[in-house]
Formats: sequence, C-alpha cells, structure tokens
Amino acid sequence: MGGLVWLIVAAVITWSVGVRPPSIEAHVRSSGGELLAQTPPMGWMTWNYFGENINERDLREMADAMERSGMVKVGYKYLMIDDGWQGGRDNKNNIIPDPKKFPSGIKALADYVHSKGMKLGIYSDAAPLTCAGYTASLNFEEQDAKTFAAWGVDYLKYDYCGAPSDAHTAQVRYRAMADALRKSGRDIVFSVCEWGERRPWAWASGLGAQLWRTTHDVRDKWAKKPSEKWGVGLMDILDENADLHEYAGPGKWNDPDMLIVGLYGRKGPSGDGGGSGCSDTEYQSNMSLWSIMAAPLIATNDVRSMNAETKRILLNEEVIAVNQDALGKQGVRKVKNIVWNVFVKPLANGDTAVAILNRSDARQNYAIEFSELGLNGEFEIRDLWQHKVTGRGTNWKGDVEGHETKLFRLSQNRLR
Ligand code: GLA
Repeated sequence: MGGLVWLIVAAVITWSVGVRPPSIEAHVRSSGGELLAQTPPMGWMTWNYFGENINERDLREMADAMERSGMVKVGYKYLMIDDGWQGGRDNKNNIIPDPKKFPSGIKALADYVHSKGMKLGIYSDAAPLTCAGYTASLNFEEQDAKTFAAWGVDYLKYDYCGAPSDAHTAQVRYRAMADALRKSGRDIVFSVCEWGERRPWAWASGLGAQLWRTTHDVRDKWAKKPSEKWGVGLMDILDENADLHEYAGPGKWNDPDMLIVGLYGRKGPSGDGGGSGCSDTEYQSNMSLWSIMAAPLIATNDVRSMNAETKRILLNEEVIAVNQDALGKQGVRKVKNIVWNVFVKPLANGDTAVAILNRSDARQNYAIEFSELGLNGEFEIRDLWQHKVTGRGTNWKGDVEGHETKLFRLSQNRLR
C-alpha cells in the first residue's frame, strides 16, 4: 500500500515536471546570455507606408536613408519587412520570397542591412495565410524558422489572421513558433501580433516572446470619432496600453503598434478607418507617449523624404533615452481626467521622466505639484523637447497646446 502511494506521488511529480513549460529565462536569453530585446526594439517597418507593395529596391533605399539621416545612429536598428514579401513555397516546401519583389532574395537584403550595423525583421502568421492573403507558417514553424535563421533574420512579427479565436489555440500556435525560433540556432526577437484580443500580456512572455501588440492597428489620426465605426487613433490606443504597465520590463514589452509620425495622412493601411493625418504637435505626442510607455519605437514614414519636423521628432535623443532607459519601466499614468494625463517613469540613474498631455483641442494652463505624483523635494526640470533646463523647484506650471505632450526629465542628482 505504502509502495503504491509513493509510486503515485513519484508519477505525479514526474508528470508535473514534464508538462511544466520550460523556464521563461530559457526562452528569452540570447545565445550570448543577455536578454533579447533588453530595451524596446527600435526600427522602421514597411506596413503603414507601403502596405503590401514592397520590393528590395525601396527597402535598400530605406536602409540607406535610415543610415544617412542618423536614425540608425540614435537606435533605429531594425529594417522590418511586414506582410506581402512571400512568394509561396518551393518543391521542398521552403517558404520563398516573391521573385518579382525580391529578385536577390531575403538573405542578400539581410547581408546588406547587417553591413550597415542594422538588423532585419520579417513577418509571418500563425495560420495557412497571412492577413493580406500570403503564404504563412502554420504547420511549417520549424522549417520556416530555419529558413529565417539561414537568411540572417533577427526579428519575426507573427500575426494571427485566419486563426481560431480562442486563447488556448493562440498560445499553442505562438508557442510552436517560439520553440521553433529557439531551435533555429539564431537569436530572433519574437513579436506576437494578435491585437491584444486574448490578453497576450499575461502569457506571451512565458512562451518566449519579447513583445506583443496590445491593440488593433493604429490609424493616422488622433482619436476615433463617435461617428466612425472603426479605426483606432493615438488616444484610443493610449487608453488600452496605459494600464498594462505592470507587464512590461526588460525583454518583455507591450506594443501599442507602430509610430505614425510623419505620415501626414498618406493613403494606405494607416490612412484607412479615418486616418486622414495628424499635426506635428500630435506626432510629438505620439513620440512622447510611446517613449514614456517604453513602447517599441517603430517608425513607418518615408525616411527618404523626411521633413525637418519629422526628423526633430523621431531623432530626439533625449526622448529616445527615456524610451531606452535601462531600468525598463513602463511609465504609469498618475493623472487621468478628460483634459490632462500625466505619466511618470522612473529612470536608471534616479531621474524621473514626466509627460504632461493636454487631450483637449485648446491651449490650456496647467499647474502640478510633483508631490502629487509621489515625487518629493526639489528637482531640476529639463524640457526634453526644448533641450534645456527650464526651471527648478517642487512644481511645474505653464501652457500646453491642445493635443500637445510635454516631456520632462526631473533630476535631484543634478541639484546636489
Ligand atoms: C495585421 C497587423 C498589421 C499588419 C497587417 C499585414 O493587420 O495587425 O500590423 O501586419 O496585418 O497584413
């Protein structure tokens, strides 16, 4: 009898160890031992600007422009190919690029961007076909992961169109690709794209993903109007992403979708659903808020022809430093009313980033005691858009334009 009990206990232990998922660490450490996506990934992605009309010439030009404009230098390292690159499978079932769009193949493009110190991202989907109807990876996970690794791909965005809606299946399918990427022998950042529908923040990191979309596709607009049936803008996305701060950290990021900075109502995917464009003030808010939320910074504008304002916004190194800060905290929204939102993000050197957003349409005056944000004492106040120290003290007051976000770095160290 005693023997039987022990046998059952032993069997249960063996079973539970056997079915327990491998530790998260095993998934997210690179072969060199460091965390994959230690800070939020930064780059440029094809979708909002080109849709599926992509080709290797435009992508090389974009990589050149990213280098020339200084984007690569300030951190935008990934050139990311979204949907539309695929040309089916060959007679050995290997996924292949469309030969008209990528006559030199993906490996040549990877080599090209690597030669500039950049990285290459690619796209697939956990179903037979992608969102735009191209060949996808379901049941070919290991084979495709090996192909991506052989090409020198560094990042995979994995979409969920055409897949069953339940959370269990999503986890099974995302785990299959995460495992395949791990087995591929190359460090490939894994980006889950199921639009936040199945609470991926609760499970995607555990499967081995470094980021997960939290919302539907961003459109090039401030906010969805009551008269519009669909199409989310910056404010809609902000409200979905802001409360998920506890789930973010080094190697695991909430992804509120790409930046729309500099698109100016370009027709194409971001122009659908009422995406008629934003003002530069609104694009500055996009950059400020995504930075303080430690979101991936993935630009989508035409980098080849950026105007001065777009450059000023995307290339602001002080703002990028808030986003890329080593502590890896997603800023917390401490003030939330119909006009004002204030976010607070602790930084690695003891400073604090504070973003003040005026959601109303008109310029308004604002005054806040830092103690209301849990920040006690005196601070040096540096305005990261003006690039200068604008004051010191225990509070801030001033005008904020309608739809503007001010971004500050508060420092006590620098007062000592
Ligand atoms: C989905 C994704 C987008 C983009 C398209 C491509 O809509 O959410 O980001 O990748 O598919 O078809």
